Amino acid sequence: MKTEVIPVENPFAEGVIRAGQAIEAGQLVAFPTETVYGLGANGLDGKAVEQIFLAKGRPQDNPLILHVAEPEAALALWDNPPQSAKRLMETFWPGPLTIIYKKAAHIPDQVTAGLDSVAVRLPAHPVAREMIRAAGVPVAAPSANLSGKPSPTTAAHVLADMDGRIPMILDGGSAEYGVESTVVSLLGEEPVILRPGAVTKEMLEAVLGGVQVADSILSPMAEGAVAASPGMKYKHYAPNARVRVFCGRPEKVSKEVQKQYNSAQKNGTNCKILATEQTKDYYSTNGIFLLGDREQPVTLCKNLFAALRDLGDEADLILAEGIPPVGEGLAYMNRLLRAAGFDVVYLQD
Ligand code: TXA
Ligand code: MG
Repeated sequence: MKTEVIPVENPFAEGVIRAGQAIEAGQLVAFPTETVYGLGANGLDGKAVEQIFLAKGRPQDNPLILHVAEPEAALALWDNPPQSAKRLMETFWPGPLTIIYKKAAHIPDQVTAGLDSVAVRLPAHPVAREMIRAAGVPVAAPSANLSGKPSPTTAAHVLADMDGRIPMILDGGSAEYGVESTVVSLLGEEPVILRPGAVTKEMLEAVLGGVQVADSILSPMAEGAVAASPGMKYKHYAPNARVRVFCGRPEKVSKEVQKQYNSAQKNGTNCKILATEQTKDYYSTNGIFLLGDREQPVTLCKNLFAALRDLGDEADLILAEGIPPVGEGLAYMNRLLRAAGFDVVYLQD
C-alpha cells in the first residue's frame, strides 16, 4: 500500500474533507491533534476499527478513544452520563482530556475491547475537528505509532512507523502538547486519573473536588494486578536506545549523569543526555540535548517523544533528568519512567 502524506495548512483544505470521507468509508487515516498524532477509523464500524489493531500491532485487549467534534455527539456515546462529565466537558473541551464512563449500547466491542465503558475526547486541533465533522461519525483513534514506540508528534514520525500500512497521513505540523491526553474515569465513587496529561490533577480537582491518581502512574504494575486501564500493563514509549532516569537535586543529578556519560563513552557506548535550561551549563560535553525548562514541565512534555525518537536512532543510551511529579510534571515523569522501563537512579543529598 502506498502512503500519501497530505500537507494541511488550514482545516478547510481539500485533503481534510477527503480524509473524513475515507474514514467514513472504512479506511484508516493518521491526523494531527493538539496532543499527538492519531490513527483514526470509523468508530461505529467494528471491521474498520480492527484495521487499527493490525496496523499498529496493538494488543487486542487495549481499548480505543472515540473522538467527536461536538459535545452533543459525546453525550450520545455514554449510557446516562453524570453531571460530573458535563462539568468536565464545559471546562476542558475542546482540549487534552479524555473522559471514561459507561458505554451506550451501539458502540462496537472492537472499540472498547469488550469493556462496558468507553473513553471519549473532543480534540482542540481545528484539522482534527473538521476531519471528524467530515466523517460524520465518532472517530476511534489511538496514537499513530507502532505499538510500544513513543507516540508521534510530527507527520514524519507517523510515516516512519506507518509507511505502507495506511493509505493517508494529514500533515498539520508539530503537536502543541507532545504527550497524550489526560484520561479520567468517572466510573467509581471518586474520579480517577488513569493517565496524566496537560489537564492536571489540580485542574480537575478545581472542578470535581477530590480526584485520585491510579497507582501505576509512577511505578510498574504489580505482578498479577488488574489494570484499571489496559494500556498501563504494556511496555510503552520505548525508543531504540536504553533510557535511564536520574532523580534528585539538579546539581547532584547532573554530576552523576556526567559521570555515567563519561564511563559510557569510554566503553564505546554512544550516549546522549537530556538536559534542561537550568542544568545545561553543568555539563562538560556536547552530547547534550536541550529538552526545555524544568520550571515549565509543558516544555519538557512537548519535546520528550521527539527527542526519544530522534536521539534513540543514533544513541545506545539516553540519560535523562527527573523532575518533581507535580502539575504537568506528573505527565512528564509518567512517560519518561515508562520509556526507561523504570530504570531509575535516586540520588540522596
Ligand atoms: O491524546 C490522546 O489521547 C491521543 C490522541 C490521538 O487523541 N490518543 C491516545 O490513544 O493516546 P491511545 O489509544 O494511545 O491511548 C488510550 C489510553 C490507553 O491507555 C487505553 O488503555 C485507555 O486510554 N483506555 C481507552 N478506553 C478505556 C476504557 N474504556 N477504560 C480504561 N482505559 C481506557
Ligand atoms: Mg498510545
